Amino acid sequence: MNAPVTLTATATPSTPALLLRPWRAADVTALIEVYQDPDLRRWTVSPLDGADDGLRWVRAQEQGWATGDRFAFAVLEAAGDAVPPRLVGNVVLKEVAPGRPCAQVGYWTAAQARGRGVASRALDTLTAWSLDAFRADGLEYLELLHQVDNVASCRVAEKSGYRLDSVLPPAPPAYPLDGHLHIRRA
Ligand SMILES: CC(C)(COP(=O)(O)OP(=O)(O)OC[C@H]1O[C@@H](n2cnc3c(N)ncnc32)[C@H](O)[C@@H]1OP(=O)(O)O)[C@@H](O)C(=O)NCCC(=O)NCCS
Repeated sequence: MNAPVTLTATATPSTPALLLRPWRAADVTALIEVYQDPDLRRWTVSPLDGADDGLRWVRAQEQGWATGDRFAFAVLEAAGDAVPPRLVGNVVLKEVAPGRPCAQVGYWTAAQARGRGVASRALDTLTAWSLDAFRADGLEYLELLHQVDNVASCRVAEKSGYRLDSVLPPAPPAYPLDGHLHIRRA
């Protein structure tokens, strides 16, 4: 992916438009604030505890864009004309490889922005872009994994057209319970 990609999810009658763009070093302060949330820390593999962690994480996302195997987007919401858009989430396309028919998606939403369709709208946008941008490389379907008790994530998967494909065995220590594998085809 040579050119930086910016995507949008249109506004709804009750929620502003979303802007999806690659993460930047300038996002670190907001990123670390969002990572204070215990639910986010519970469901993400690497809790970020300070500016150094945050910058390392952003650099890893930049590296993913450079190597072409991982494409993470900061999700921003326009809070009003007078203030800059605020960080409300993250969506990522990962495990992309030329000739590989599947890749994986992931997401989180900042605690104060949950329950307003941010994850599902951002995921819809990421999904459409991914299946289109990598079709010529052989991408045919996307996988979405969550632990069985992450009901909000399961609902996001369903709303975004990722049908439940199979139940996976536990993978401790990170995932001590069964998992759901959801799939969405092009
Ligand atoms: C999962 C997560 C991304 C959802 O983000 P969001 O922006 O609130 O998602 P949406 O608003 O698009 O949809 C959430 C849906 O889950 C539902 N939901 C939320 N909590 C729920 C619960 N405890 N039980 C059942 N449904 C629940 C909401 O009602 C909503 O469904 P609806 O639109 O039919 O009412 C967010 O909770 C999060 O960031 N969690 C921590 C990180 C995480 O779990 N990431 C996914 C790892 S697989």
